[in-house]
Amino acid sequence: MHNGIDTKLIVAKFAMHGYNVHPSAIEVLKKNVDPQNIDFVISHICKLVDSFIITPDDILSVLDTIREFERKARVRETEQKSKAQTKQIYKQSEGIKIKDITGKSSCEGSIEDFVAYFNSRFEKLSKILRKRIRPVPISTLGRLNGEQVELIGIVNSVRETQNNSAIIELEDKTGIVNVIATDRLKDQALELLGDEVIGVIGTVRGRNVIADRIIFPDVPMNDKAKFDFGVVFISDTHFGSKEFLQKEWNMFTDWLNGELGEGKVVELAEKVRYVIIAGDIVDGVGIYPDQEKDLTILDICGQYEFAAEQLDKIPKDVKIILSVGNHDAIRQAEPQPALPKEYRDLFSNNVIHVGNPAYVELDGLKVLIYHGRSLDDIITKIPRLSYEKPHEAMIELLKRRHLSPRYGEKSPIAPEKEDWLVIDEIPDILHCGHVHTYSVGVYRGVFLINSSTWQSQTEFQKKVNLNPMPGNVAVYYNGDIARLRFYN
Ligand SMILES: [Fe+2]
Repeated sequence: MHNGIDTKLIVAKFAMHGYNVHPSAIEVLKKNVDPQNIDFVISHICKLVDSFIITPDDILSVLDTIREFERKARVRETEQKSKAQTKQIYKQSEGIKIKDITGKSSCEGSIEDFVAYFNSRFEKLSKILRKRIRPVPISTLGRLNGEQVELIGIVNSVRETQNNSAIIELEDKTGIVNVIATDRLKDQALELLGDEVIGVIGTVRGRNVIADRIIFPDVPMNDKAKFDFGVVFISDTHFGSKEFLQKEWNMFTDWLNGELGEGKVVELAEKVRYVIIAGDIVDGVGIYPDQEKDLTILDICGQYEFAAEQLDKIPKDVKIILSVGNHDAIRQAEPQPALPKEYRDLFSNNVIHVGNPAYVELDGLKVLIYHGRSLDDIITKIPRLSYEKPHEAMIELLKRRHLSPRYGEKSPIAPEKEDWLVIDEIPDILHCGHVHTYSVGVYRGVFLINSSTWQSQTEFQKKVNLNPMPGNVAVYYNGDIARLRFYN
């Protein structure tokens, strides 16, 4: 068990709940609890213990209670799996097609899982590429000196050289080769994130291949989808945060109820059949250091109760598709399943819970919902991209046909046997959040929406220089996206 949490911090956390803690109890806590679970455990101890000073016995007995609760939850989950759980979980979602990881996760993080995960990624993406190029195995290149070849491989690394070129180390199931990219191709190569699957057309020169073209899986040209109903796109509500914008949220729900705005704006509200929320429903607990200072609701269950209350202000004939993000109470590694049942049960029947990512079809309109954690990695890596225009980073996801191309950066990935982050089905709309700014675009007929937030700038965001654009709402109707602003 890790011992990485500071004693003073533990004392402070208990003090916040109005408790003192005995020094020997702190040692028990450090020995038995992983630092990332510390807030959860402390909040349970404070709820369950009566005495004013927390003793080692208090801690051990609460830990037993939590373990028993987790054991029961595991048993329940196994039972659900064996009962065609998809139907059970989504019985209220009739008429809506949903594809996500919920109830289907099988990864345990073993070496075999990682191998299977990357095989799945390679197979799925090379299948897309094989429609356009006919690859030779890398192991045969030794016999093809001087010839033009087509390759498909996963990018292991890219490095810049002194003489205006870049070297891409490309791997397929048979071997590894260095692909040299010069001039214009060098710039393209330097924007590779690593771990994406690409095609290369080039000429074999000794042990290298000189690239003529780099080919991304990409999406074909599509016609923009035209449906005569409205869909509202929001995300990052961060219920429970001190910076949650209650007044603006109320204006938004008033508009949905036909009580705010006039003319076309009110007419648009009448068309709305769905509201999609792309994760970070609540602010969470223990997501970043000293987060307690930024919260009005300190326990996670209370935050979801408040979220359910706020979503109840949306008319009941509007279906709400609720996805999750890195602030929500579910595993951090993607793909994330929908919220656990204990939280789902807090919400009304018009709320349909989905994982992250989730591919949904709403009366024929295909929407891919992805919270957007990988946007941090992409915006950091490619200098021409910025947090002000996240939809441009979303284009990079579509080009790579993958929602989190780079493995092992800021976006943790669970090595499931199937790579759920590959964009198998081309959506009409790709909907992300996470970066708290608003931007919308179209790429090859696919709408790109990054849908703002309902939290004004927190102290933490000030420190990391993140300037949110809250209270902006994207509304799809009849092949167009309208922007409504509820925040000045
Ligand atoms: Fe967020």
